[in-house]
Formats: sequence, C-alpha cells, structure tokens
Amino acid sequence: MRAIPQALAYSQANQNRFTAELIDLLRIPSISTDPAYSDQVVQTAEWLAGHLQGLGVQDAEAVQTEGHPIVVGGITVDPAWPTVLVYGHYDVQPADPLDLWTSPPFEPVIREGVLYARGACDDKGQMFMHLKALECWMQTTGAPPVNLKFILEGEEESGSASLPGFIRTHKEELSADVVVISDSSLFAPGIPSVTYGLRGMTYVEITLTGPDRDLHSGTYGGAIHNPIHALSALITEMHDADHRITITGFYDRVRPLSEEERSAMSGLPFDAAAWAQDVGVHTPRTESGYSVLEASTSRPTLDCNGIWGGYTGDGAKTVLPSTASAKISMRLVPDQDPDEIAELMEAWLHARVPASMQLAFNVIHGAQPVLIDRESDAMSAASHALEDVYGRPPYFTRIGGSIPVVADFKHLLGLDSVLMGFGLDSDAIHSPNEHFGLDRFAEGIDAILRFHAHYAAG
Ligand code: BES
Ligand code: ZN
Repeated sequence: MRAIPQALAYSQANQNRFTAELIDLLRIPSISTDPAYSDQVVQTAEWLAGHLQGLGVQDAEAVQTEGHPIVVGGITVDPAWPTVLVYGHYDVQPADPLDLWTSPPFEPVIREGVLYARGACDDKGQMFMHLKALECWMQTTGAPPVNLKFILEGEEESGSASLPGFIRTHKEELSADVVVISDSSLFAPGIPSVTYGLRGMTYVEITLTGPDRDLHSGTYGGAIHNPIHALSALITEMHDADHRITITGFYDRVRPLSEEERSAMSGLPFDAAAWAQDVGVHTPRTESGYSVLEASTSRPTLDCNGIWGGYTGDGAKTVLPSTASAKISMRLVPDQDPDEIAELMEAWLHARVPASMQLAFNVIHGAQPVLIDRESDAMSAASHALEDVYGRPPYFTRIGGSIPVVADFKHLLGLDSVLMGFGLDSDAIHSPNEHFGLDRFAEGIDAILRFHAHYAAG
C-alpha cells in the first residue's frame, strides 16, 4: 500500500487535465440507439482505444461487431497477481428534448464545479475514472498493483445485443478474477454504497389492429371497436387494485425479500416523501405491502413507456384509428426469466384480445436480474476503498435499473461484478441537463486506486 499516496497525489495534481480530456470524449455524440450517429459511435470507440494505448495499454483496440465496436485491451503486470476486468459503456441515450437543456448536450460546460453533458455521469464520466486511475499508476509506480483489463461497450443503452456473443468468443482474453463497474450511484451525497442487486428487463412492443384503415368516426363510430380503447383497457387490466401485476404467472419465480434485507432496507436513511416530491409527485404509490425503496429496487414492475395511435397533431381530426400501439417495459427480479416473462405476457394478451382485433407482439430486448454475493474479497476491498474516501463504510443496496452485462459476466465467465458507482439520482441520467459533480469524478478515481490496492493486498 506504500505507493498509494503518490498515485493519489498525481490524480489530484492532474484533475484539470483529466476533466479536459473527459470533455473531449463527451463532445462526440455516441448515441447508440439512433443509426444516424453510428459514425460517431465508431469515432468514440477509436478515441478510447487510442487513449488506452497512450496510457500504455499496447494491445488496446476497437473491435468491430455486428453492432457497435467493443473496445478491449489490458495490462498484465504479473500473471500471478489478481486480474480486474473493468467494464464501462461509451454509448449514451438520445439527448432530446433538446429545448430543455440549459446548454447543448454535446457541448460540455462546467457550472459551479458540475460538468453538464449527455454521458457526463452515464457512463462516460464514470468509465473514464477507471482509465485515469490506470494513468495514475503508470505515471507514478510504473504499473497498477493488479492486472487490469478493459471491456468498453457501445450498445449498453440499446440492449447490449453484441456483447454476449463477444464474451463467448473472447473468453480467454477476458479471463479475470472480478469485474468492476462504475455505472450506478452513491446512496446519497457523501454516503457511498455498493450495489449488489440489479433488476432485469423484458421490453415489448404491442400493436392492436382493428379496421384495415383509418375510418371516419361519424360514418363508423358506434359500430366498430376502437383499437385505442381496446389497448387502453388491456393496459389498465395489467395491474390490480393493489398495484400488483396481473399477467398470469408473473410472480411465480419471484424470490421473496429476506427478512434480513427488509430490515436492512428499512434502516436506510431514506425519506420517501422527499423522494417523491423531488420529482414533483405528491405521494409515492407502491405495490401493496412494500415500501418505496423495496418497490423501486427489489420488486418487479410493469410500465407503459409510450402509447400512440390515431391523430395527435394540432386541432381536431375525426378519425377512428386502424391501429394502436404501446411500448411496455417490465423490470424483473431474481429468479424471473426475461424470455419466460415475454411468453407469459404474450399468452395473457392473446387470451384477452377482442375478436375484432389482431395483435402484433414484439420483444425488443431482455436482461437477466442479478443478485451478487456480498461476502467476497472484492466486495470487502470495495468496502474498504469507499470507507477510505468517504470516512464511512458503504451501504450494500439493490438498485432498480439494469446493467444487462452483469448477468452475462456471471453466466459466461463465472465472474462476479463489484458495482461501485458515483452517480446520484439527481444527476438526471437519460434526462435533459445530465451532469456529474467534478468532486465525485475525483473521489471515484481515488476510490478506484484504493480498490486496486486493497484487492491486491487482500
Ligand atoms: N447506468 C444505467 C443503469 C442505472 C440506472 C444505474 C439507474 C443506476 C440507476 C444504465 O446505463 C441503464 O440505463 N441501463 C438501462 C438498460 C436497459 C436498456 C436494458 C436501463 O436500466 O434502463
Ligand atoms: Zn449507464
């Protein structure tokens, strides 16, 4: 642990340049879901591969896939030492609605110590901390105290379609002892946490088609079933009065929360009313019998993400529409299976679609839910590292979001992940004015350096 002060001092002395480099990275609009930006996604991958090479990762490269490139590379200092595989994603969510941004999403600016840009927190800013931690070692001790490998993805925000196949065909290059990911949050400002649970996902799109064309609502209205009404009724029926999901079999595989988890969660300093008011909602609403924290992190959900059909332009158009569509995401918890949930949903819909309608059902993507063992050398190294930086041990928490690759690392490589994140719920990830406090950027680099040192020593 002797070398740590030099690496930490180097980080502190170089913060301004680190931030300037991150700003260069944030300028490239690597929106993975929109094909119009595919050149910029490639450009970002090449930027990162070049940056890693500059840090001394000689074999760093952007590997082409059927989707977006995956950046890989590593430094083996001593084959006898433990190997940490760093995962991050360099793609970002679309930036719209653009008019709600105070400054343009791909023209990063710092206001009062906070860096504003799409990807500042999710995940370019957090991913870049791991590259800078490597630089701190290379420029002080000449090498990190563990072997380090990187896998940086460009499709996380669009469902990580290429990644499982890539992992399967590159098992040898990716072999490691543990994965470390910074793509999650602190519990609250100054209060660190390690995430041990992520929800999974089944995302579907459904369309009901009634008449074979849009109809005059005067000529036909009253005698033709309107697909928007039928779809709305189905969506309403997906929850009961207790806000439980009614899809037959949906809860069959849900692992109940243990008493230990429930009591740990209820002991966390979490103010549900303030949490709701922060997003402009008067009172939260949960599945009966569950607290806000339980319901938003550890119970499954079903949400309609978008609904359309008929006429939505200015003024009035008297139309009885031919079709109505909706996008629906279901957040899953262990031991639900994304494919099985899609089948249950499809069967449930088929049993209820009115005879006057046809159903089109498409699965857009899925992700396995994850629970990670809290008792491991890597978890205690993370815990010690965060305590060193924040002066208090982290909470172990489950979060409601999804990081699909975590289950793939477990199932394909047998690797657990340490989810050590430095975001805040208030960072507006996926929203206008996404930002990342530069204090947390610096703290994250410190915590990563300390994690390497603890893991090497442990
Ligand atoms: N960084 C998020 C995951 C996350 C969300 C962490 C909320 C902490 C709080 C990640 O980039 C993300 O948004 N994932 C998607 C995955 C989906 C497309 C399968 C998500 O959770 O919606
Ligand atoms: Zn992310």
